Amino acid sequence: MFKKLALSTAMALGLATGGAFAAGEGGHVEDFSFSFEGPFGTYDQAQLQRGLKIYTEVCSACHGLRYVPIRTLGSEAGPGIPEDQVRAYAEQNFEVFDEELDDYRPARPTDNFPANTSLGAPDLSLMAKARAGFHGPYGTGLNQLVNGMGGAEYIASLLTGYTGEEKEEAGTLFYENTAFPGGWISMAPPLQGEDVEFDDGHPNSLHHEAQDVSAFLMWAAEPKMMARKQAGFVGVIFLGVLSVLLYLTNKRIWRPIKHKHEEA
Ligand code: HEC
Repeated sequence: MFKKLALSTAMALGLATGGAFAAGEGGHVEDFSFSFEGPFGTYDQAQLQRGLKIYTEVCSACHGLRYVPIRTLGSEAGPGIPEDQVRAYAEQNFEVFDEELDDYRPARPTDNFPANTSLGAPDLSLMAKARAGFHGPYGTGLNQLVNGMGGAEYIASLLTGYTGEEKEEAGTLFYENTAFPGGWISMAPPLQGEDVEFDDGHPNSLHHEAQDVSAFLMWAAEPKMMARKQAGFVGVIFLGVLSVLLYLTNKRIWRPIKHKHEEA
């Protein structure tokens, strides 16, 4: 028994240090604070709208969002953009290939955002879930519970993590980035700060823009996060009530027997 315990402890420790090395190879992810963190966190509509603007004006030049239906921009739990504006947005910004027409036409809300493979940049639809900012050996996993997996933090850290160093390898330029695993990324710094103007005069520093577009990409990857959290919360309450009921039932069932024991 004791031997077994010692063995599994040793293994757990071994795994933990392995994890530490793995985390060391990855880049440095800063802990940005997002409105959707925590068990009750929700998306901030205004922030998602700003993020959409940044995606549209900057990132969409290279990155597609092919799994995201444009009409979901109207979702109340998402950017919450009125229907007519979503239609105008689709028409003004994107063209899709229509097989019936055998030609390109302006996008409609029923289309998905187009893919963009022209420069070999990865699709961003699921990027915020494909990358984790918080992992590693620190044991309890509480950080993930409170802050989520950190995909949005990873993207924000990536966008703000350029050091300004460049190098050329086999004809490709690489840019040093403290968040990117391996340290060198082939994406030129897409944001400098003041890349977009917001109608309400919201700050557009590099830090703000990075955070806004990351929040938008988190929503794109997980549009139902709030519903999921609510369902989870209801589940926890339900299990809590059930536990109390089971406890009381259990007491009641054993009560006669216990009492007999006490009397004897
Ligand atoms: C000029 C083209 C270009 C623009 C504009 C651009 N990207 Fe990229 N992006 C790339 C390329 C190319 C890669 C692949 C880089 C690599 O793997 O070395 C990439 C990779 C990424 C990755 C994945 C990094 C990883 O972990 O693999 C993310 C996230 C990303 N871009 C986000 C953005 C965001 C957000 C914007 C807008 C603010 C943006 N990009 C604008 C070209 C671009």
